[in-house]
Amino acid sequence: MSEEARSGMAATGYFAEENSVETVNARMGKDVDPRLAKVMASLVKHLHSFAGEVELTQEEWEFGIAFLTRTGQMCTQERQELILLSDTLGLSMLTDAINNRRPDGATENTVFGPFHVEGGPVRQMGDEICLDGKGESCLFIGRVLDLEGKPIEGAKIDVWSDNAEGYYDVQQPDIQPKWNNRGVFITGSDGEYSFIGIKPVSYPIPDDGPVGEMLAHLGRHPYRPAHMHYMVRAEGFQKLVTHTFVGGDPYLESDTVFGVKKSLVAPFQRVEQGDTLWRSDFDFVLARPDQTR
Ligand code: BEZ
Ligand code: FE
Repeated sequence: MSEEARSGMAATGYFAEENSVETVNARMGKDVDPRLAKVMASLVKHLHSFAGEVELTQEEWEFGIAFLTRTGQMCTQERQELILLSDTLGLSMLTDAINNRRPDGATENTVFGPFHVEGGPVRQMGDEICLDGKGESCLFIGRVLDLEGKPIEGAKIDVWSDNAEGYYDVQQPDIQPKWNNRGVFITGSDGEYSFIGIKPVSYPIPDDGPVGEMLAHLGRHPYRPAHMHYMVRAEGFQKLVTHTFVGGDPYLESDTVFGVKKSLVAPFQRVEQGDTLWRSDFDFVLARPDQTR
């Protein structure tokens, strides 16, 4: 069909399979915010294209609506099933990549996840964050640097991880001590940080809801490879939200939320003589707001 015929059909305002996108998008008002107009027109175009490509059946459409309804209904203050859906479809990591294009040498971002808690306890360098006495102790140590290799003073490093059984404290408020495996550290003029936690273990994302059902139907496991979460903030630099991953983890190449980047796989070395069983060295390199790719 010619463009002319297509737009003519849209102009009537009547809907037909052949002109569905144009008809819907032609309803948009004239004074709509330009960014909203661009995002919504593209969303309609791709949604219609998807339905046409798979020849969506009525039953599938109904199943999809029921699935999204259940996913929304599962959301509470503690459980965000819709973000989990975005994570497992790779949308969270794609959005993160689009919004954090950094030059070579800067530490890469990865998925934030649902288990961060703002306002964690500020601790002294070298302090222990594991409060339940479980797991294999590990020294986490390194520096926060700028792209020229200079130490950053006053960087706030917020860290969090699961416990030795694979659960965050907020998932087990009646079992784990509050703030277990969490802490905030502030760098001095040397940019150095260090703390004692546990060597993280791999764990399944919450899979007792619609997202877990979806993964099972798709033949996918719900596991994330072992990692330590970091959020590093410093005045005059881009916020860094990242993890370090334990090298050798069996799920590194099949992380259910696609969060692994090669540059974030950190060494975890067994300590022969020392206060901890393991040691992991990792420097964080922050980019300034104008340092993009
Ligand atoms: C996490 O690493 O804490 C996480 C990330 C995405 C979904 C679920 C958990
Ligand atoms: Fe995690």
